[in-house]
Amino acid sequence: TSTAATSVSIAGDIGSQLHAGYCHPLARSWQAERQLTKSMLIYPLFISDQDDEEVLVPSLPNQYRRGINKLVPFLEPLVHKGLRSVVLFGVPMRPGTKDALGTAADDPEGPVIRGIRLLRQRFPHLYIVVDVCLCEYTSHGHCGILRDDGSLNNQLSVDRISDVAVAYARAGAHCVAPSDMNDGRIRAIKLKLIEEGIVHNVTLMSYAAKFSGCLYGPFRDAAGSVPSFGDRRCYQLPPGGRGLARRAIVRDINEGADIIMVKPAGQYLDIIADAKELGKDLPIAAYQVSGEFAMIHAAAKAGVFDLKAMAFESTEGILRAGATIIISYFVPDFLDWLST
Ligand code: PBG
Ligand code: ZN
Repeated sequence: TSTAATSVSIAGDIGSQLHAGYCHPLARSWQAERQLTKSMLIYPLFISDQDDEEVLVPSLPNQYRRGINKLVPFLEPLVHKGLRSVVLFGVPMRPGTKDALGTAADDPEGPVIRGIRLLRQRFPHLYIVVDVCLCEYTSHGHCGILRDDGSLNNQLSVDRISDVAVAYARAGAHCVAPSDMNDGRIRAIKLKLIEEGIVHNVTLMSYAAKFSGCLYGPFRDAAGSVPSFGDRRCYQLPPGGRGLARRAIVRDINEGADIIMVKPAGQYLDIIADAKELGKDLPIAAYQVSGEFAMIHAAAKAGVFDLKAMAFESTEGILRAGATIIISYFVPDFLDWLST
């Protein structure tokens, strides 16, 4: 009877034996639904209008603002290591470039349009995403055109943003990504791309669930886009607004977005999972933003953890939540760390 009792208790416990499934590195990798690969990664680039500039951004470790003449030499080794995609941000440094309408955003001689042309020509296999916003180009630093009371004029902003998106697309951007958060911009951009006859080869990636907060500071240093008054809380989402994010995601899918993005990433894994569920037939992107990157660097420097270990852990969390496209300042590191 004692033998029978033992076998019953073993049988009852069989399902408790989990270690066997992850006792080998390969078996551990099989536990993830998605493996991080180089083709998932998009690297942010800050392109200034100072053609020969290459300046370290103090608050964004190892990240530089570069003039057009520094781009190709910088990117060549990265492309060689497997870089597949970049996202461009223009940084007008020249005094007098900014105005209330963000006129310089689609200047054909500006750094973004020149950058698109140069990269298309020099790196034919590199997929060029271009951030579309006005905050880098407006004198007030907000993401659109303002009313007298300082709030965003949605109609004027959407008209302008969609013109800028079309200008980037015509210059050769594979993908335009409006980050301004004006209501109705996805539809407006899609319609203009149709009108222009280029809708079939321009991907529209929506920063659909973009939250306000304190994690964009280093980016605003890099891009010179700190608002001169007020903040962005009336157009970027409130951090607690999960329902609002779900509505924004559904809306942008219905307006014609090809890719839905969630941003920031690490603090918003539930929103990434929501995006994956609501947009189950679309690719989901997540942006590990400047503040997240700077925070990981600062903690590694303080001895809290190893930088590489945390770069992987944070990115794997984003993948697990449901993203399959990752925008990250760690991309050059991952190109060294990953084999595929
Ligand atoms: C511009 C824009 C921002 C980011 C991407 N596009 C800044 C902002 O909205 O203030 C943030 C990216 C980052 O922090 O890395 N609208
Ligand atoms: Zn903006």
